[in-house]
Amino acid sequence: MEYITLNNGLEMPIVGTGTNTYGKENNDYNAAVTNEIPELLSALELGYRSIDAAIMYRNEELVGRVLAESTVPREELFITTKVPAEEEYIASKEATRAAIDNSLKNFQTDYLDLLLIHFPIEEKGQLQNTWEVFEEYYEAGKLKAIGVSNFRKNHLEELKEFAKVKPAVNQIQINLKEPNKDLLAVLKEEGITPVAWGPMKVEDHQKEVLEDIGKAYKKSGAQILLKYQIQRGVVVIPKSHNRENQAANLDLFDFHLSAEDMERIENL
Ligand SMILES: NC(=O)c1ccc[n+]([C@@H]2O[C@H](COP(=O)([O-])OP(=O)(O)OC[C@H]3O[C@@H](n4cnc5c(N)ncnc54)[C@H](OP(=O)(O)O)[C@@H]3O)[C@@H](O)[C@H]2O)c1
Repeated sequence: MEYITLNNGLEMPIVGTGTNTYGKENNDYNAAVTNEIPELLSALELGYRSIDAAIMYRNEELVGRVLAESTVPREELFITTKVPAEEEYIASKEATRAAIDNSLKNFQTDYLDLLLIHFPIEEKGQLQNTWEVFEEYYEAGKLKAIGVSNFRKNHLEELKEFAKVKPAVNQIQINLKEPNKDLLAVLKEEGITPVAWGPMKVEDHQKEVLEDIGKAYKKSGAQILLKYQIQRGVVVIPKSHNRENQAANLDLFDFHLSAEDMERIENL
């Protein structure tokens, strides 16, 4: 595993696993949560240590229990979760504190590695209150890093007006269909690490080129796609229900894409 150093010095694994459909009937995001997550156990066995969770996924308690019962020591795990931009969680500072306390309980831990605001909070007072609570828990050591998700440039600028702690990451959609180049440039300038959700999304014609590039490295198109992101400093959190794909998505550290291939993918 390779790590990326966040702007507060914390090391984050550059590849993690998504969990938004884990532990749900038929792997369906909106379906009922079941009582077990074989995919998460498989991911841990294969060596995944960074787990991307969210209150909105409704499976935090189950994910937390499986992590707590695993043989992987807590200090090896990098647990991310997200507070929804919904009244129930952001209407007051007390509501946000209750949400964080509950997530800590769900993960059976006294700290989270990274907590994100899941979506932009449009009402400025609520954004400020929420961020101040994040900062409070950060200062207390209960959150090792704090950040945002799905924030555009204007949302980041608004946050900057009062933030004492700069967001460590912005988790946004980044893939070959939605490269998000302008926002990536802003994040680079600000020293905020981009985390790519939905990293596997690709058009058919792009897939063919990725497969073609992969031949020289003996890697699949999916692996080339992920390697392209991590080689340029974008954290990826692909999600798979298939053990072979989970293994492939971690098997990215024994090769390096040439400058020409990086450029070819960039221009897809
Ligand atoms: N912050 C946000 O608003 C937000 C929004 C969406 C998602 N997320 C997070 O990001 C994570 C990942 O995003 P996502 O789940 O939407 O999409 P994703 O990881 O881009 O794609 C998942 C799909 O890719 C397939 N796949 C994975 N590895 C593969 C491989 N090596 N070869 C071929 N196919 C492969 C999976 O199928 P198989 O199961 O068959 O492998 C699955 O259908 C989520 O789980 C969630 O934690 C965050």
